[in-house]
Amino acid sequence: MHNNTNSKFKSKMLVHLIAAARPNFMKIAPLYHALKQETWSDPIIVHTGQHYDLNMSDTFFRDLNLPEPQIHLGIGSGTHAEQTGRVMIAYEKVLKDNHPDLVIVVGDVNSTMACTLAGVKLCIKVAHLEAGLRSFDRTMPEEINRIVTDALADILWTPSPDADKNLLKEGILNEKIHRVGNIMIDSLEMMRKSIESFAVYKDLGLDSANYGLVTLHRPSNVDNGSILENICEKLLRISEKLPLLFPVHPRTLKSLQEHGFIKTLDKAKGIHITEPLSYIPFMNLVFNCRLAITDSGGLQEETTYLGIPCLTMRPNTERPVTVFQGTNQLCTVESLEGKVEKILMKKSRKFRGIEFWDGKTASRVVTSIKGFLFS
Ligand code: UD1
Repeated sequence: MHNNTNSKFKSKMLVHLIAAARPNFMKIAPLYHALKQETWSDPIIVHTGQHYDLNMSDTFFRDLNLPEPQIHLGIGSGTHAEQTGRVMIAYEKVLKDNHPDLVIVVGDVNSTMACTLAGVKLCIKVAHLEAGLRSFDRTMPEEINRIVTDALADILWTPSPDADKNLLKEGILNEKIHRVGNIMIDSLEMMRKSIESFAVYKDLGLDSANYGLVTLHRPSNVDNGSILENICEKLLRISEKLPLLFPVHPRTLKSLQEHGFIKTLDKAKGIHITEPLSYIPFMNLVFNCRLAITDSGGLQEETTYLGIPCLTMRPNTERPVTVFQGTNQLCTVESLEGKVEKILMKKSRKFRGIEFWDGKTASRVVTSIKGFLFS
């Protein structure tokens, strides 16, 4: 852990950006770069270490042109309470030494909630980017993290109108809510040139628009052996019609190994298993896939923005705009194969546009911070 900033001597506003797990890195990157351009701000990346494998963390920093995190809490894995507690204890110490003017948390991982709790208890201002999303499913750990974070944060930056409504319904004051749009689209646009300069699918022996991209890691899909077996069987059948590329998340790999399914997938002709990929090669595979099968939050948004069909293996989504205005469909293990077939028979729907999903979210956030800190 490192600390070199004492508030008595600082001339700039100290802004902590909390990064913890894979989906956080592309949310802080555009904001870090935008804040770095401002003469009044000193953005500091705090990595809690919730994700620590090279290909779940470090490669994202490289791909998104981020510097090494200035502060690393090195928390690692654990139960939810252990992870949350360890982040709170470690980050409270950092906050007491650093006195940031603002803590920015993103998304819905355990560290998002833990850093919010540590900050507000020391009366330090906390802002939540990607606020207001609700699946209304409290069996999801992320939903608990979202509810707690939004109840406590001082500024709530939302991506879409449904998020504003959710917050208002929960009694949150209108003046705390600022719709800024989807920061993930900023990362995608910021990196578009690099993403398009590759043809990663070719290296894997696949043709553009002729493979499905699979990502699965939600506990509800991958932790239970019989559910996972059922999903693997369906993927094997689908792979006879459409080759599937499956970069496997560590949680999923562990479960596939424990239940003895990894060898079957590995041997299947139509299924290409890889390690988790870093941002640029992964997005290159998203840009060129025929469809995505996923339970990730971010991929629902990226495919909608790109007009690529997405089948979300969940009973609900906290991102309903991707269903009503985008290319996303919810599906079950039973309905998956039929939905894939239907997609293969027709042309993709085009993205009709969602307000503020335009690559300019970071600049709206900077304007909001200025209004908040200098008014
Ligand atoms: C976490 C987030 C989830 C997010 C996901 C993206 C919470 C509650 N969950 O889920 O919201 O969508 O990240 O990936 O915060 N592991 C490794 N290497 C790593 C990281 C994890 O091997 O770099 C292993 C851990 O040991 C653990 C498993 O993967 O067994 C799960 O990690 P964990 O951080 O608990 O949750 P995720 O499933 O990754």
